[in-house]
Order: sequence, then C-alpha cells, then structure tokens
Amino acid sequence: MERTDRTAGEGERVPGDAPGRLSGVEGAVAALRAGELLIMPTETVYGLAADAGNPDSVAKIFEAKGRPRFNPLISHVADAVAAERIAVFDDAARRLAAAFWPGPLTIVAPCRDMTVVSDLARAGLDSIAVRVPGHARARAVLDAFGGPVVAPSANRSGRPSPTTFADAMEETGSFASAALDGGPCAVGVESTVVSVLDGRVALLRPGSVTREEIEALVGPLDGAGEGHRSPGRLTRHYAPVSPVRLEAGEAGAGEILLGFGPGVGVERWSLSPSGDLREAAANLFRLLREADREGPAAIAVAPIPATGLGEAINDRLERAAGFVG
Ligand code: TXA
Ligand code: MG
Repeated sequence: MERTDRTAGEGERVPGDAPGRLSGVEGAVAALRAGELLIMPTETVYGLAADAGNPDSVAKIFEAKGRPRFNPLISHVADAVAAERIAVFDDAARRLAAAFWPGPLTIVAPCRDMTVVSDLARAGLDSIAVRVPGHARARAVLDAFGGPVVAPSANRSGRPSPTTFADAMEETGSFASAALDGGPCAVGVESTVVSVLDGRVALLRPGSVTREEIEALVGPLDGAGEGHRSPGRLTRHYAPVSPVRLEAGEAGAGEILLGFGPGVGVERWSLSPSGDLREAAANLFRLLREADREGPAAIAVAPIPATGLGEAINDRLERAAGFVG
C-alpha cells in the first residue's frame, strides 16, 4: 500500500489517500466497516482499532501486534448506554462510569451478550473490558461507527505504547489502512483498568484515574486485584531495547538520566522539571523511546513519588525494567 508522510496537524490522514478516497473520520469509519485496521488517537495512548464484532478484523490486530491470544482487548464505545449493551453493570460500575466517562477508565464487568463482541476479542472470557474514551476524534469515530471498537495500544506487543501519531505509525502503521492524527496524547499512560465482578471492585492496571479517586467513590478496593488479575500484565512490558535502571540519583557512564523535579538531570531529558506527575505521565513513553534511539548503556530514571498518578508511572517503569511478575 502506498504511504505518505504527510501529516495534517490536528487533521486527517488516510495513508495512500487518493482523490475520491474518504479521509478523516469518514475514512476511519469506512476502514472499520471494511474490516480493516485503524490507527486511532485517544487521550491516553494511540490505539490500533478494529470492528469488535468482526473476528477476522480482530485477528488482524493480534497478528499486527504479535500479541498473545490469551490477552483480551478493550471494547471502546460511545457512551455508558452503549457500554451496558455489552456489559452488565452493578451500582459500583455505574457510579464509576458516571464519574469518569468519557475518560481514561476501563471497566471489566460480566459480558451481557457473547455474540456482539467476538470471542477472540474477549479471549474467550465471560467478562468484558469497556471504555468510553475522552478524545474528540475517537468519540467522533465511535459515534459514527455505532458499534464497539476494540483498540489495544498501537505498539507491537511488549513495546512502549505510542503517545504521538508518528510513534503509532512507526509501530503498527503499516498494518492499518486508515490513520487519524489526534496530536500528542494528553494523558500518556494507558487507562486505569478496574474489574467490577461479583460485587467486588479491584484495580487491575493503575492509570491516571487514581486508586484514591476510585476508593473515594466505591470504598476500599479488593486486594490489589489478586484473584482476577488482568491477563495482559506480562512481566517485561512497555520495554525499550536499552536496559532501564530505576531510582537513579545520577547518570552513570554512557547512561541517559530521565529526571523528575528541579535540578535532577538535564532539562532535555526531564519527565517534568517542576516535578508534576501529570506532565511526567504525558512525557513518559515518548522520552523512553527518544532515549532508546540514542542507544545508551542504560536509561536511568530518577525516583518518582508513589502516590496518585505516580502509582501508574512507577508501574510502567517497573515493567519496562522487567521487575514486575
Ligand atoms: O488506554 C487504553 O486503555 C488504551 C487505549 C488505546 O484505549 N488501550 C489499551 O489496550 O491499553 P491494551 O489492549 O493495550 O490493554 C488492555 C488491558 C490488558 O492488560 C488486558 O489484559 C486487559 O486490559 N483486559 C481486557 N479485557 C479484560 C478482561 N476481560 N479481564 C481482565 N483484563 C482485561
Ligand atoms: Mg498495551
């Protein structure tokens, strides 16, 4: 397929678009309907999207990413009403949806209808992960498409998630027949994943909706997700090629130090010079990728506070370093 590197800023782009060919949201929806893959921006990270109800399209995602088939995908929908068509929500799930949607929260709940979202997308589970993204372009696609859209992060399996259009195109763009440029992702780490099953709420993946915010709404969380942990939490994940060294005070020989806070490392490589967790999350995967391209002896990372959004940042860093089982 012919491809151009033309970017249209906030605009639209269909790789290889020719006169008369649809582009933008319309082209994106046409690609989904045709069973093709779409690079879709969200507020968290870029996704590689497909029609959730089309098993052949869903299979293309697993092939493009090199993703193990036991790892289920998130179904993205336009609103909470659409979510409840495919998932069974109890009171806690409804409260979470009302508080955080549209936004960076994914809810795992019992699957209502095993026929709507393909079995492969759910990895055969009787639960389903649903999310209503907050990004305007993703919402426009979901509104126009009208059905659930599965979209894992657009990276190849085990690599850092793409947070810019260019990074998404570099990772899996060659597998997509349409791509929407939505600018840099505002959040920068993947959505928080909570399960709401059998009356218990558990945190399966920390994200920018924090543990504290969730507990304020639904009470104490169930034992850190043990018992129904997310199948996708592989040991070495979000990993650059270079080794990653955590809790670093300074850069060693040949290392690049990703700093955090005033006076830690050089500004060029700082996650947040002022020590702001939101800024650090938004910069995290982009800086890991950029540092990786320099081929350092290691990517050293300054200590990041463990509370609030820091839980998600440390989670991704520990996985990048290969520490979490
Ligand atoms: O921010 C995000 O969530 C991004 C954007 C594109 O929306 N998507 C994303 O998808 O991060 P992915 O596939 O990279 O991560 C989905 C996570 C995986 O850890 C997967 O195992 C988990 O959600 N998951 C999906 N369905 C599940 C289920 N039924 N039970 C438990 N975990 C589930
Ligand atoms: Mg992912």
